[in-house]
Amino acid sequence: MCGIIGYKGEENAKEKIAEGLKKLEYRGYDSAGAAILANPSIKVEKAEGSVENLSHNFNGKAGIGHTRWATHGGVNKANAHPHTDTEGKIAVAHNGIIENHSELREKLGEEKFESETDTEVIPHLLKKKLSEKKLEKALKETLSELKGSYAVTGLIESGEMIAFRKDSPLVIGVKENSFFVASDVMPFLEDTNKAIFLKDEDYAVIRDGELKIFNSGKQVNRQIEEIDWDAGQACKNGFEHFMKKEIHEQPETVKRAVFQDRSDIEEASKMIKDAKKVYLTGCGTASYAAMLGAKYLRSQGIEAYAEQSHEFEYMASHIDKDDLVIAVSQSGETADLLSALKKTDCPVLSVTNVVGSTLARNSDKTLYINAGPEIGVASTKAFTAQLTVLKLLSYAVAGEISKGRSSLLETAEKLEEVIKTNERELEKISDYLLEKDQCFFIGRNKGRELASEAALKLKELSYIHAEAFPGGEFKHGTLSLIEEGVPVFVFMLDDETNSLSNAVEAYSRGAELIGCGLTRQDVFKYFIQVPEDDNREILEIVPFQILAYETSLKKGNNPDKPRNLAKSVTVK
Ligand code: M6R
Repeated sequence: MCGIIGYKGEENAKEKIAEGLKKLEYRGYDSAGAAILANPSIKVEKAEGSVENLSHNFNGKAGIGHTRWATHGGVNKANAHPHTDTEGKIAVAHNGIIENHSELREKLGEEKFESETDTEVIPHLLKKKLSEKKLEKALKETLSELKGSYAVTGLIESGEMIAFRKDSPLVIGVKENSFFVASDVMPFLEDTNKAIFLKDEDYAVIRDGELKIFNSGKQVNRQIEEIDWDAGQACKNGFEHFMKKEIHEQPETVKRAVFQDRSDIEEASKMIKDAKKVYLTGCGTASYAAMLGAKYLRSQGIEAYAEQSHEFEYMASHIDKDDLVIAVSQSGETADLLSALKKTDCPVLSVTNVVGSTLARNSDKTLYINAGPEIGVASTKAFTAQLTVLKLLSYAVAGEISKGRSSLLETAEKLEEVIKTNERELEKISDYLLEKDQCFFIGRNKGRELASEAALKLKELSYIHAEAFPGGEFKHGTLSLIEEGVPVFVFMLDDETNSLSNAVEAYSRGAELIGCGLTRQDVFKYFIQVPEDDNREILEIVPFQILAYETSLKKGNNPDKPRNLAKSVTVK
């Protein structure tokens, strides 16, 4: 979604905003903007597209910035943030949705609006309140009139920086007398690893060297936490793209995911065994990890189900307080997931990457996947780390944590080899795909989720239409789409015999088959080879991440910033 950044401190704000925006761009790249408190007035600059289109000409000790993933209003300069009140005395950057913006616009009728965004009501409303009240009171009243979700940072011409949030992430970085406000810790990690995660409906005012946080009219204390990610992890480290770096980090990140504190895994496993039923949920890539997680747990005799979070909400009323929900999310900020959890009253065990995320803070127990920052919009290392933690949990349920650890560490050792072995074949397959405008992915049992994840990667990055489904389903309809030369990828993971039969049904009608598994078959035009392993699904997905990356590059796309998408989807 959108990324917001604010800085007020002793250094020039324009550099902090410019650098911060680069680190936030993975959250949206439709347009960008910045505002600097360049005494005596606020100067605003906006541009369509990338943050690199901003020139950052203004100097000052306080500033805010925004990188946009459009929700309300088209992609153009007028709709880019920051937005201001009519006189330009207040500027705000917002992530989220103000649901009652039309109503508020009507109420603020005499004000001059310049964009189609929901956000623009915020500075106008605050300005109105400020004309009668002090800032803290004006903020409290403004918040009470806003419906929806918001994380906002803003500048007031009189010198203050403000921040407030509800149902959207917002964190304050603290470096002695300087403060950052941001959507996540990434933009300020180089300056400080000390962070305060604001709670829902908190609002903060930063005056020279001083931060005050309030909730419901009262000043509150919020703990300063130390973040153990280092800034280097958020750099490309010589790789052309974050995605490539993140793919190649997997031999290491799978190992880091294995090294869970034993007592944490035992506690989580007890929650699973004590529950009447277990429901796993997540969105996109995390939903496929959740579905595989349910299969892992079922294989240990646990009654486990999985559903994507946006659909999960509709079954939430059937979930009992003695059940358990396992929520899987890299960012821990996905709105569909957070919203679904609000509809249940059973314990929540979360499997997430981002320390201090809304999900982590609202769960009864959290297992961190320890993958380090994932910046590429396409999820890669988070997926294999999620699978690792979920698999380890299933070993724990069977009372075999040590066995699980050694088995998963062995898998991690083979990842490098899988990447190397398949390099040339993947080159050929990505060249071949350039001529294609659609393809299919099939697999059975665990291969089904791999098919879904591989298709998701390919379509989100290469924009080639890719459809995935269980191999057995082909003959029930989709086979009619097969004609000469259509690529069909087949995961030969579980039930190899029937997986192959399903692939051959397509082959006989002209499909070109690309297999993935242990042994090449004559019918395969191309073949992705993986070694025997107890956790082969973790190995098998990696070549498909590379394939999506390579195909995207060859098509001239930016794999780190696929069109229309954003990393963290904080709207429903
Ligand atoms: O942060 P989350 O894991 O909750 O994100 C869920 C999905 O939005 C995410 O996995 C998305 O599908 C990725 N772009 C897929 O590569």
